Amino acid sequence: LPAAMEPCWEPGEPGEPGWARPEGELGGRGLLALAVASGAAAWATWAVLLMPGFRRVPLRLQVPYQPSSPRQVANALALLRGRAGKTVDLGSGDGRLVLEAHKQGLRPALGYELNPWLLCLANYRAWKAGCHGNVSFLKKDLWKVDLSDCHNVIVFLAPSVKPPLATKLLAELPDDARVVAGRFPFPCWTPSSSLGQGLEQVWAYDMKEVRREVQGSAQESQV
Ligand SMILES: C[S@@+](CC[C@H](N)C(=O)[O-])C[C@H]1O[C@@H](n2cnc3c(N)ncnc32)[C@H](O)[C@@H]1O
Repeated sequence: LPAAMEPCWEPGEPGEPGWARPEGELGGRGLLALAVASGAAAWATWAVLLMPGFRRVPLRLQVPYQPSSPRQVANALALLRGRAGKTVDLGSGDGRLVLEAHKQGLRPALGYELNPWLLCLANYRAWKAGCHGNVSFLKKDLWKVDLSDCHNVIVFLAPSVKPPLATKLLAELPDDARVVAGRFPFPCWTPSSSLGQGLEQVWAYDMKEVRREVQGSAQESQV
C-alpha cells in the first residue's frame, strides 16, 4: 500500500489487533461485575448486620441502628429524673438507654429491638454491668407492642416515623406518661421541656398536655 493509504493506528492503540488492556483498567464487563459485587456486599451488610429480623416491618417504618451519644443519653435520662414506673426504649439498640434508666431507679426498664446482634450485645452489656435479670431486652416489633402500661417512653428514631409513632402513642399511653424523643422532635407536639443543643437536644412530652393540645386543634379545625 502507498504510505498515504496505510491505517493510521499507532501501535498499542485500543482496537488494534493484539492490543492489550493496560493493567488495572476495567472494561465494561469488569465494571458490571464490580457493580454487582458491591451491590451484593451492601445488601449482605444490610440484611445480615444492620437489619436482620426486619422482614415483616414495612420499609417506610424501618429505622437503622445509630447509637445515642453519651450526652444524648445523659440528656434523655435527665428529663426522666424523679419519675417512676415502667420505662421502655422503643428500638433499644445495644441497650445503653435502658441500662442508664435502670441505674437511675426507673423500674422495670426494658427495650424492644428486632436486631438479634444488638439484642445479644445489650444482654452482654447488662451482664457486664451486673444488671442481668433486672432489665429486659425483648425481640419485639415496636409497632406491635402494647404501650398502655408504660409511664416513660424513650424514642431515638428517624423523623420519617414520628407521625405514625405519634398516632400510636396518643392511642395507647396513659395520661401520666412522658415521652422523651432524641435527635428529632415530634413535629406536631409542643414539648413540656427540652435539654441540649443541636444533635444532642432531647424533648420531653407529657401525654396529658399533648392530648389537650391535639384535641384543641381538632376542635379549632372543625369550627
Ligand atoms: C436510631 S437506633 C437507636 C438505638 C438506641 N435507642 C440508642 O439510642 O442508642 C434505632 C433502633 O431501633 C431499632 N428498631 C427499628 N425499628 C424497630 C422495630 N420496628 N422494632 C424494634 N426495634 C426497631 C433498630 O434496630 C435500632 O437499633
